[in-house]
Amino acid sequence: MRITFCCTDTKAEPWLQGLRAALPHAEVANWTPGDGPADYAIVWAPPQQFIDEQTRLRALFNIGAGVDALLQLKIAPGTTIVRLDDAGMSVQMADYVCHALIRHFREFDGYASDVANGKWSYRRPRLRSDFPVGIMGLGVLGQRVAQAVQQFDFPVLGWSRSPKQLQGLRTYCGSGELPAFLSASRVLVCLLPLTDETQNILRHETLSQLQPGGYLINVARGGHLVEEDLITLLDSGHLAGAMLDVFRQEPLPPGHAFWTHPKISMTPHTAARTLRAESIAQIVQKIGALQRGEPIAGVVNWQKGY
Ligand code: NAP
Ligand code: GLV
Repeated sequence: MRITFCCTDTKAEPWLQGLRAALPHAEVANWTPGDGPADYAIVWAPPQQFIDEQTRLRALFNIGAGVDALLQLKIAPGTTIVRLDDAGMSVQMADYVCHALIRHFREFDGYASDVANGKWSYRRPRLRSDFPVGIMGLGVLGQRVAQAVQQFDFPVLGWSRSPKQLQGLRTYCGSGELPAFLSASRVLVCLLPLTDETQNILRHETLSQLQPGGYLINVARGGHLVEEDLITLLDSGHLAGAMLDVFRQEPLPPGHAFWTHPKISMTPHTAARTLRAESIAQIVQKIGALQRGEPIAGVVNWQKGY
């Protein structure tokens, strides 16, 4: 069995060592152009030439949850593409979102600024019931985030493509129920995959339906957000702030308005990182299942695009 590894911006050697240790009978190599076809490929942002060489793939493993960039390449339709299915990401996403939510709700930035100015002052406690949290995307990450947010007694709502019944969550589905979901939310968390349907979904028309004093947490992809519309709604006061982990252009270019906007907090696409050991274990387990002809989770649906 030949396994080829082609991950941009990733140190290959530790991955190769881990894969070889777990699959001692496989030939595992970092790709160089002209290597020819392999049985399994492990990728992140590979070049088109890599894809073109893979003429007999049994599966293409993406070492991230989102496959939007991969699907921009010309890949033979029907190829089995497998994305990371949690692999240690959901707990990171849960702590990131809870941190952003609580930091905003408890006004910790305001306290930090008071303390920096030598000021000992109190803010009026706010009611959790006034901060319903709407989660767009109730997949592997969205569901874990919803559970974590519920633990802090915020009302939680969720929106997905297909209907879902989840304990303690008010759920909505499809474009028809989007307005009802948005108008019942004050804090909006985006955990959707980036597809033709979800591109630009965070725009003036949708964000303005959030309750007054809304707060946006975008941890999915920059392509979901129309950046100028966010700034308009922050400046008008309809939105109170935003925590952004992902951007249309990454790294965020110097001089971009987000760097200095007083109501925007940012991190450099780090909300849920790929964890090497967990990812290798998951990929190895799935290669084993595929070799035995068994079904696996996390296979991308070509029709849906995620
Ligand atoms: P997932 O398991 O595939 O879940 C996607 C969810 O979005 C599903 O609930 C799906 O609905 C819903 N959805 C998709 N298209 C929709 C539409 N048109 N309308 C309404 N709902 C729609 O994905 P995941 O593993 O949770 O990951 C979500 C995304 O997070 C990834 O695609 C990636 O872009 C992003 N991400 C970001 C980071 C970071 O560090 N910032 C890290 C990891 C992942 P159904 O349940 O009905 O199918
Ligand atoms: C990171 O953004 C991922 O999709 O895993």
